[in-house]
Amino acid sequence: MPLRRVGILTGGGDCAGLNAVLRAVTRCAISRYGATVLGVADGFEGLLDEPRTVSLTSAMVKGLLARGGTILGSSNKGDPFAYKTVENGRVTTADRSDEALANLRDLELDVLFVVGGDGTNAVGNKFFLRGAPIIGIPKTIDNDLGATDITFGFDSAVNIVVEAIDRLQTTAQSHHRVMIVETMGRNAGWIALQAGLAGGADVILIPEIPWRVETIVRAIQARKKLGRNFTIVCVAEGAKPDGGEACVRELVPDSAEPVRLGGIGDRLAGWLERYDVGECRATVLGHVQRGGAPTAFDRNLCTRLGAFAVHTAARGEFGTMVALQNNRLIATPLAEAIKQIRLVDPAGEWVRAARDTGVCFGDG
Ligand code: F6P
Repeated sequence: MPLRRVGILTGGGDCAGLNAVLRAVTRCAISRYGATVLGVADGFEGLLDEPRTVSLTSAMVKGLLARGGTILGSSNKGDPFAYKTVENGRVTTADRSDEALANLRDLELDVLFVVGGDGTNAVGNKFFLRGAPIIGIPKTIDNDLGATDITFGFDSAVNIVVEAIDRLQTTAQSHHRVMIVETMGRNAGWIALQAGLAGGADVILIPEIPWRVETIVRAIQARKKLGRNFTIVCVAEGAKPDGGEACVRELVPDSAEPVRLGGIGDRLAGWLERYDVGECRATVLGHVQRGGAPTAFDRNLCTRLGAFAVHTAARGEFGTMVALQNNRLIATPLAEAIKQIRLVDPAGEWVRAARDTGVCFGDG
């Protein structure tokens, strides 16, 4: 089908690679289909009230391949189907989908690409079920989307954590300390697992494997007996002790993700110091993991996903999310893509390889 007007928005938490996708979609839509490209500002928020859009031209996307963040802005609030506002501490939820759909129709788009994680793609699917021509593009540093082998933003986040661990190794060794690195990832342990492994962490704690402080203490003491007077612990923000809960930093009632995780690093440092393991210090990497330039891997993934998404639209395959499966690009139904979060398999190959090479997961 002809592509005349192409729309794109970026939703949810930002990450490295969003701008690279905007560039790929814009370039491919213009050069291959002669389309005009419209960016919607601030995720789905940009479709409410007076729609806020910006024309994306080849000149506008120049230099975006390596630039972090998103020039369109993003938001993890503003789901038009359940629009939350907080007044005097009270949360009200309104259905503003008719307004958003009417605004979307007025934009006369042949396709709207929604670039985001599970939340953004779930909202995209609701729009599709109401007749809008939607195609999802998977992003999230958490790497927890079920339908794709990898989401863009993840590799960049992992590399940032690895660099941090490399740096913390030296202080750990110089001061004979236990250095704890807290990563993001929500309820999935992918960042902590892959970065911990690549950074040579001695202990990796992830939400999928409940752990005990005593087991971590034993691992630290065993290292000391071997003359290794320092330990690196890489802990995911959602990791929880056996029988306990994940650490909640704060509640955000008007967000699509109302529970903000965080704080396990400091808490663990306190718990460990009650034992004879020496000084423990925690570093929380936080949003550093989402910022800055994407890695070469992410830049290329964004270019591939963006171009493929445009061709998917030209084939009229709406209600899908583009994805990478077994290194092949495919378009999978959005309904399937959002069905299940992809977590680390505690009995899978990644965890096994880590255990085989001496990593302690704090269990047992
Ligand atoms: O989903 C991406 C993510 O960075 C999570 O890893 C983290 O828990 C959350 O977003 C933080 O969100 P916010 O930017 O709203 O604090």
